[in-house]
Amino acid sequence: MKASSISKYNFTLLYFLIGISFFYSISCKQVLKPTEDYDSLTESKIDSILSLMTLEEKIGQMSQVRHFSDIEKGDITKHHIGSVIHTQGPLPGKNAQEWQAKFTKLQNEALSTRLGIPLLFAVDAVHGQNTYEGATIFPHNIGMGATGNAKLVEESAQITAKETQATGFNWTFSPCIAIPYNEKWGRVYEAYSESPELTSELVKSSVKGHQGDLRKKHTVLATAKHFIGDGSTDYGREGGDTNIGKHQLEQLLFPYRKAVEQDIGAIMVSFNSIDGINMHAHKILITDSLKNSMNFNGIVVTDWKGYSRFGQNEIINAGVDMVMAVDGDLDMFQNGLRDGVKNGSVSENRLNDAVRRILRQKLRLGLFKNPFPDSTLIKDIGSPAHRNKARQAVIESLVLLKNENKALPLNKNLSKIVVVGEHADNTGLQSGGWTVEWQGVHRNYEGATSILEGIKNIAEGEVVYDQLGTREYYDADTAIIVVGETPYAEYFGDINGETKYKLELSKKHQDYIKKYSEKVSNIIVILVSGRPLVVTKQIEQSDAFIAAWLPGSEGDGIAQVIFGEYNFKGKLPHSWPKSVKDFGKYGPNFWDSSVEPLFKFGYGLEY
Ligand code: BGC
Repeated sequence: MKASSISKYNFTLLYFLIGISFFYSISCKQVLKPTEDYDSLTESKIDSILSLMTLEEKIGQMSQVRHFSDIEKGDITKHHIGSVIHTQGPLPGKNAQEWQAKFTKLQNEALSTRLGIPLLFAVDAVHGQNTYEGATIFPHNIGMGATGNAKLVEESAQITAKETQATGFNWTFSPCIAIPYNEKWGRVYEAYSESPELTSELVKSSVKGHQGDLRKKHTVLATAKHFIGDGSTDYGREGGDTNIGKHQLEQLLFPYRKAVEQDIGAIMVSFNSIDGINMHAHKILITDSLKNSMNFNGIVVTDWKGYSRFGQNEIINAGVDMVMAVDGDLDMFQNGLRDGVKNGSVSENRLNDAVRRILRQKLRLGLFKNPFPDSTLIKDIGSPAHRNKARQAVIESLVLLKNENKALPLNKNLSKIVVVGEHADNTGLQSGGWTVEWQGVHRNYEGATSILEGIKNIAEGEVVYDQLGTREYYDADTAIIVVGETPYAEYFGDINGETKYKLELSKKHQDYIKKYSEKVSNIIVILVSGRPLVVTKQIEQSDAFIAAWLPGSEGDGIAQVIFGEYNFKGKLPHSWPKSVKDFGKYGPNFWDSSVEPLFKFGYGLEY
């Protein structure tokens, strides 16, 4: 960005950032405690490894690639690779044994190099080990935010960490600690809440749960993402520009402070820019604020193809330590950085800082002593105990928005219940994006239970299913209508006129509710969605209305609550919008009093 294009406002923010950097460098440094996760020898071990490393080896440590496409046989050693990821694309194998075997093979390649530095294996296990079919899938973070239950978040993270390790990984790109300002953003569900306070409380538990004692084989390194302003871009555009004032920036930094206090291992920088400066290249926020002032001593990792997309060596100079050099970026990154060091535009000190941070996390994980996955964990993937915890999370995440005429709880011996809508019996639809596939799936997946199955397990009378709303079972005592969004991830889920998503329900889903509400006396609507939608009219047409978010694999938990086996506990983690007209640059928010929401943050009825 040219200096002449920096506005007066940007200067104010800049001075503010320098100010907070200074303030925190004074206040935080005094309270800095030595982290308990690595011993006093760790830093000297790092010094000795660093002193042995060549430039090529350092650049290699900073490189992260996929286990497919980006590398061929021998590339781990040839390019001195530091980390491998699994994301959308060919699976590492047919089952967990094969996944572990694949990563063991790659680890052995890394160990065969001159210095034998082990690899970090990362994955987007964002609501359970969701890339592995058969794993326990928790509600997406928005549902965990609705539970408001920090202990439950910690326990869920422990289970996710164990199942993640069981499939061969030692690092997860989770939790997302965005503060969404606008429901139009396609990643609202990845974040806990619009409240920085609630998010901060839950991030603490999430990091604690994932990382625990990192030397143990059932824990993983966590990543807070996406630093920073990902959820507060104008009009909710993924990767757009975030124009906020200093008070709001402080609020967004708050959850990161909590993550750093918990010794989080990594922080991923974001696709968005702040006041026109892309976050990958934002030296003030990455180096001055996060590293120097907040004393973050872990790895700053880029997002997807961050090097080629956001300024190449500029991002390294801004403080990025590891580069997701995927999808064709590897050679460009390694050659570009080598040239940069040789021509003096990137200092060797900067590289040493980056590699030191990467080695520190590898030592914390105990990888030099114990670099391989533990096969005894495989039996715990999707175990009944793990599923019970996920079911508890589903039960506690449900928010009851309306309950009139004693519509709920339902009597188990109603003579006839009709369940309406595809979402009632499709565990892919009920789980959203980042489930089995990056963009989610539209089918039932292994080990999961649908809402309809749960209802059938409990109801003692007849249960009929009207999948497409065309069968007109109008003689039922009660209609349970399950509507919502189809799965999406990242920018595919933005609502901006270019994607298929809308703030309102599809016409088909609106019609289910309207038709049944005219004929059946008790109408229960369950909304399965990654964000609050504008459903003002549908709430009027129903007797009871439940926000179920994206509950994940244990759909039967929903049935247990509507039949009264458990009470409702969930509270809204977002303000609930009443009209599409209320959306501008941002959506209705609890800190913006100019727009009255339909339901306020924290709302939720009980029996
Ligand atoms: C997403 C990140 C994710 C990364 C790796 C990116 O496109 O923004 O959240 O961790 O891909 O899969």
